[in-house]
Amino acid sequence: MYGAGSVLAQSMPFDERVTQCGACHGEDGNSRIEKIPSLAGQPEFFVLNQLVLMREGVRQVEAMAPFVKDLTDEDITALAKHYAQLEAKRGDEPIDPELVKRGTEIAAQRRCVSCHLPTLTGQDQMPRLAKQRVDYMVEALKAFRDDKRTGADTAMTATILGLSDADLAALAHYAASH
Ligand code: HEC
Ligand code: HEC
Repeated sequence: MYGAGSVLAQSMPFDERVTQCGACHGEDGNSRIEKIPSLAGQPEFFVLNQLVLMREGVRQVEAMAPFVKDLTDEDITALAKHYAQLEAKRGDEPIDPELVKRGTEIAAQRRCVSCHLPTLTGQDQMPRLAKQRVDYMVEALKAFRDDKRTGADTAMTATILGLSDADLAALAHYAASH
C-alpha cells in the first residue's frame, strides 16, 4: 500500500513558487516594497524555521497566509536553500548617520552581536539584519517590544525591553548600515 496522502499531495513547480514569493520579497530576494523583509542571504535555518511557524499558524502573517498554507516540507527546504544563496543588497532607503551612531551605542549595551554576530549576518534561527530594510526592522522591533509578534522568540523581546520608538529606529538604522 502506498501512503495516499503524500502521493496525492500536489506541489507547485519550484520556479512558479519562487516567482510568487518574489512579487513581494523581490525577484532576487531583496525587497523593494515598504515593510516587506528581504530574504536574500538569510541563514537557511532561519527561513526554514519561520516558514514552518507561519504554515502552522504560530507566526501569524495575514499577507503570507495564502502562500504558506500548502507548502510541503520539501518546498520549505528548497525555498530556504534558495534564499540563503542569494546576495543581500541594500535598498535605497536613506541611512541616517546620527541614528547609526546612537544605534551603535544601544546595540553595544544590549549585546545584539552576541546572537546576530558582529557582521549582523545572523546564524541558525537568528536572522540577518545587515542590509535588511529599515522600515521593516522598525516594525519588527516594535512588534517584539509590544508583544505583538505571535510565536516570537522571547529572547528578542527581553533584549529590547524598555526602549523607546526613537531607540528602535536608531537600532534599525545601525543594523541596516552593516
Ligand atoms: C503578498 C506579499 C507576500 C508574498 C506573496 C509572500 N510574502 Fe513572505 N512576507 C510578507 C510580509 C508582509 C512579511 C512580514 C511579516 C511581518 O511583518 O511580520 C513576510 C515575511 C516573510 C518571512 C519572514 C522573514 C523575516 O525576516 O522575518 C519569510 C521567511 C517569508 N516571508 C517567506 C516567503 C516565501 C518563501 C514566500 C513564497 C512562498 C512568501 N514569503 C510570499 C509578504 C509576502
Ligand atoms: C539572545 C539572542 C538575541 C539577541 C541578544 C538579539 N536578538 Fe534579535 N533576534 C533573535 C532571534 C532568535 C530572532 C528571531 C525571532 C523569532 O524567531 O521570532 C531575532 C529577530 C530579530 C529581528 C527581526 C528580523 C527579521 O528579519 O524578522 C530584528 C530586527 C532583531 N532581532 C534585532 C535585534 C537587535 C537590534 C538586537 C540588539 C538590541 C537584537 N536583535 C538582539 C535573537 C536575538
